[in-house]
Amino acid sequence: MAGFNVRSVLVTGANRGIGLELVKQFLEKSNPPEWVFATCRDPEGERAQQLKNLASRHPNLAIVALEATDPASIKAAATRVEEHLKSSGLNLLINNAGIVRPSTLESETPEDMSLVYATNVTGPLLVSQAALNMLTKCQSLGYEGDGILSIAVHPGWVQTDMGSSTSHQAPLPVDVSVQGILNVLPTLSKKDNGAFVNWEGKVLPW
Ligand SMILES: NC(=O)c1ccc[n+]([C@@H]2O[C@H](COP(=O)([O-])OP(=O)(O)OC[C@H]3O[C@@H](n4cnc5c(N)ncnc54)[C@H](OP(=O)(O)O)[C@@H]3O)[C@@H](O)[C@H]2O)c1
Repeated sequence: MAGFNVRSVLVTGANRGIGLELVKQFLEKSNPPEWVFATCRDPEGERAQQLKNLASRHPNLAIVALEATDPASIKAAATRVEEHLKSSGLNLLINNAGIVRPSTLESETPEDMSLVYATNVTGPLLVSQAALNMLTKCQSLGYEGDGILSIAVHPGWVQTDMGSSTSHQAPLPVDVSVQGILNVLPTLSKKDNGAFVNWEGKVLPW
């Protein structure tokens, strides 16, 4: 991770679980990013307390409101991020916010299915499009369309609220999963575009 230079990174769903740990580990790097944008649904609320504690010690951490199912919220978040970045563009977007609704064929509901799709599929698409706009603005700095990598990363079965939502205990501590992810990211290149890899860098079949 030492050689992994990220000038700016945005993590969605960063107030707890894997997102919060990603933010912590980015900030703790020996060469931390100039900007870490940690988004959460309610920056003023109690659930953002750990982020606020971090922000009081790290001036390069900006907490930004973002509700992944709300296009207006995503647009407002992009505007705030651009204000910080000026024209330098965003380097790394981590679409981490997500939900799971454990169910069976009998108990599944259309409402839950729609919410999962809106959060885990449409949300990341809209956030990616907003980030792409920022990148497009700085193409004069040398970016080209194919300079953008898009990778899906499986974090493992992790001891977070989500990972603990079944009756079995998740095996992987969150700091170990995130350390693995941050070790894998700098190894990825153009040939991996569109790939699905896990926290140990193993390619998974789609
Ligand atoms: N944990 C695992 O074993 C595991 C396995 C495979 C994949 N994943 C994926 O890893 C990611 C992080 O999981 P996790 O274990 O850290 O989950 P988690 O502990 O449940 O945290 C989920 C995060 O997503 C945020 N979020 C949920 N819905 C949102 C919305 N509509 N808009 C904005 N933020 C929203 C939550 O914010 P609030 O606090 O406001 O709810 C929270 O910050 C998810 O995408 C998940 O699918 C996890």
